[in-house]
Amino acid sequence: MKMVLASGNRGKLREFREAFGEEILALDEVTEPFEIVEDAETFAGNALLKARALYEKLGPGWLVISDDSGISVPLLGGAPGIYSARYAGAGASDRENLQKLIDALKARGVRHAPAYYTAAIAVVGERGEQVVHGWMHGEVIDEVRGDKGFGYDPIFIPEGYHRTLGQLEESVKVKISHRAKAIERVRPLIDLMAR
Ligand code: IMP
Repeated sequence: MKMVLASGNRGKLREFREAFGEEILALDEVTEPFEIVEDAETFAGNALLKARALYEKLGPGWLVISDDSGISVPLLGGAPGIYSARYAGAGASDRENLQKLIDALKARGVRHAPAYYTAAIAVVGERGEQVVHGWMHGEVIDEVRGDKGFGYDPIFIPEGYHRTLGQLEESVKVKISHRAKAIERVRPLIDLMAR
């Protein structure tokens, strides 16, 4: 059974390969780019949309894995949440999205606020569909610190730490992240579904 990650996000791919090894193929290694409209209202719904769309193209013999994730700030009503990738508009860069979040904190007159990342991982294959979740709690701050990771990592300080994910080693993130937790939950399901 061949495994592919239904995502063009290099940061996510790196983290999945840390966990599953190089055998997990990237989207652009198996198909031409194609658009998937992520119009579900939950992370799980969008993860399933992405995995199903690619499985429909590839068919039996493939196990398609997808990740839909984002950061939520309760002070901002849960924003950006499922809109994390396009918070500053369609096609916005990580830096533009992160800057919009910093601006939103400043507009509220706060320098930091509780926040959490959610990752929903979906797996679709011949044996059906599964979705699992993982979370990482912490806080967002109003300035960029460090350049490791991707997305909102340079402004996110995980609970129990004093530095952002932009400053901490990747080896820390792969142990404590929302994605790492979801990956541990999905691992036994992938073992079963790949048989
Ligand atoms: P998706 O590719 O539609 O699931 O969008 C995920 C978006 O959420 C990314 O573009 C990032 O902005 C954000 N995100 C998800 N996971 C992480 C992470 O581990 N670090 C930083 N940002 C993340």
